Amino acid sequence: MSISAIKGMNDILPGKVETWQFLEQKAREVFATYGFSEIRTPVVEKTELFCRSIGETTDIVEKEMYTFADKSDNSLTLRPEGTAPVMRAFIQNRLHTLDPVSKLYYLGPMFRYERPQKGRYRQFHQIGAEVIGVEDAKIDAQVLAMLHHYACAIGIDAVELQVNSLGCPACRPDYRTALIAYLETRLSSLCSECQRRYTTNPLRVLDCKATGCKAATADAPSVLDHLCAGCDEHFSQVQGYLRALSIPFSINARMVRGLDYYVRTTFELVTDRLGSQNAVAAGGRYDGLVESLGGPALPGIGFAIGLERLVLMMEEGQQLTARPDLFLAALGDAAAAQAFVLMSKLQRGGVRAEMDYQGKSLKAQLRRANKLNARFSLILGEEELRTGTAELKDMDQSSQVPVALDGLEQELLKRL
Ligand code: HAM
Repeated sequence: MSISAIKGMNDILPGKVETWQFLEQKAREVFATYGFSEIRTPVVEKTELFCRSIGETTDIVEKEMYTFADKSDNSLTLRPEGTAPVMRAFIQNRLHTLDPVSKLYYLGPMFRYERPQKGRYRQFHQIGAEVIGVEDAKIDAQVLAMLHHYACAIGIDAVELQVNSLGCPACRPDYRTALIAYLETRLSSLCSECQRRYTTNPLRVLDCKATGCKAATADAPSVLDHLCAGCDEHFSQVQGYLRALSIPFSINARMVRGLDYYVRTTFELVTDRLGSQNAVAAGGRYDGLVESLGGPALPGIGFAIGLERLVLMMEEGQQLTARPDLFLAALGDAAAAQAFVLMSKLQRGGVRAEMDYQGKSLKAQLRRANKLNARFSLILGEEELRTGTAELKDMDQSSQVPVALDGLEQELLKRL
């Protein structure tokens, strides 16, 4: 029996991988403009890192982590997200001593044991960005401006930026108390999961998709009515800067995030194109996180984009695979051997050249040139090799010109 991939973990095949490369390359370009440097951390960390940062009562830590014991019986976990590992690396390598403001980005696979469906996988990929060291609301706006810039750069427009503030350790407890009191009066309408968690993680009830929970929380107290003066002022400033930068957004006071480290600004880039997996990117502020993991008391903010969801959103049929510049059609073994050398030389010179390796008929070779969407084709037979000239056919224009095989690279570069 043949072996297949693990459920929820996908191959990224030629034809699709070009979209991934495009999205990754654009992120590198855009993020560099804003002064971000790449950081790469291991895919495996000590389990404790995620329990302490994401939160013991979250879905991720309770149900979704790929946790295992290594041969020395250490509990390790495949990273379910990138923020905690980046903070661990930041603290361990004392990056704050190099620069008071660290702007870091990362891309790579993350792992969550979720029920796979369209846009939700067990191995998925994030492009994330984190800024550590700035409390000022300007940086919240700048991070959102960068996310908006990236969405424009890759050409997705069916997205909406929703923002919220979740308060801070000074004002959140008040809100929690008010929310728990409200939920207590409607317990019988909540799903069993929310009945269980309404005291341990009441904010998650606002995010529950069950119809009963949705209806029961329709008039729930709003977090925005419970912000302390400091959080209220910070959130107003974030909105002011977003308006000043002409970044379109709406406020979603019911937005809660699935990770416990957030304070103040939280946000999601949502779309109506992907069914229930509607968040293309998400993030927020995590001011106490670095300190709680044993580092200096520095604020932080960031986001992560789900690459699979972006790929799904990219226009169908968008041709990102590089077209070959030239297809060499050779007739006979001698010509094929010479075409092979010529092709290799052209490739070294930067020309995307292709040929046939299976001794196919001329007709079949030209069919393949068409299928690959080659810009030019060139037929090499005995006659062409003897005279050192051949006809270079422009496949788009259906025109042809005689060229010397010797100067072919220059000729092609001139014409591309
Ligand atoms: P998150 O909301 O858990 O936040 O994930 C961010 C994004 O990753 C989601 O909006 C979604 O696009 C994608 N994503 C999450 N789970 C899956 C999945 N199972 N399959 C496919 N895509 C998925 C975080 O991970 C935070 N670390 C973001 C952050 C960075 N906050 C501050 N800095």
